[in-house]
Amino acid sequence: MRGPGTGEVRAGEAKSGELTRFGVSMSEDLLEKFDRLAARKGYANRSEAIRDLIRNELVQAEWEESQGEVVGTVTLVYDHHARGLSDALIDVQHHYHGLIISSLHVHLDEDHCLEVLVIRGEPRIAREVADRLISMKGVKHGKLTMTSTGRGLGS
Ligand code: NI
Repeated sequence: MRGPGTGEVRAGEAKSGELTRFGVSMSEDLLEKFDRLAARKGYANRSEAIRDLIRNELVQAEWEESQGEVVGTVTLVYDHHARGLSDALIDVQHHYHGLIISSLHVHLDEDHCLEVLVIRGEPRIAREVADRLISMKGVKHGKLTMTSTGRGLGS
């Protein structure tokens, strides 16, 4: 896609791993907002902030389109007094033992537990297990984080 605001490659074709500079047109207002956000997030420069945005989109696309293997985490905060919940969560995890490769449990306070599951497998199954866990009664917050095996993301 080429056109106003979509950026153009100036330096011709770059070999994989080499850096290419390109120009991007956008309003001053938008750029100022972006620079402020990047600074707040601690980016040393605009380029690194833009690279991370692009990588994030690529990881998202990898998840949406992939038939192969993806990696992610499911984070759960739940009330361990909720009747039957701990057992139900463990049952699901055993059922998907091939997908869940590691888990971390933290007793947050008298009532609450935090669990982080590392998952690796097909994206469809990963979503399925995340949805099943997060939707359980007594789970107060849950989030599926899609990350990447790191291969093919560039530097
Ligand atoms: Ni606990």
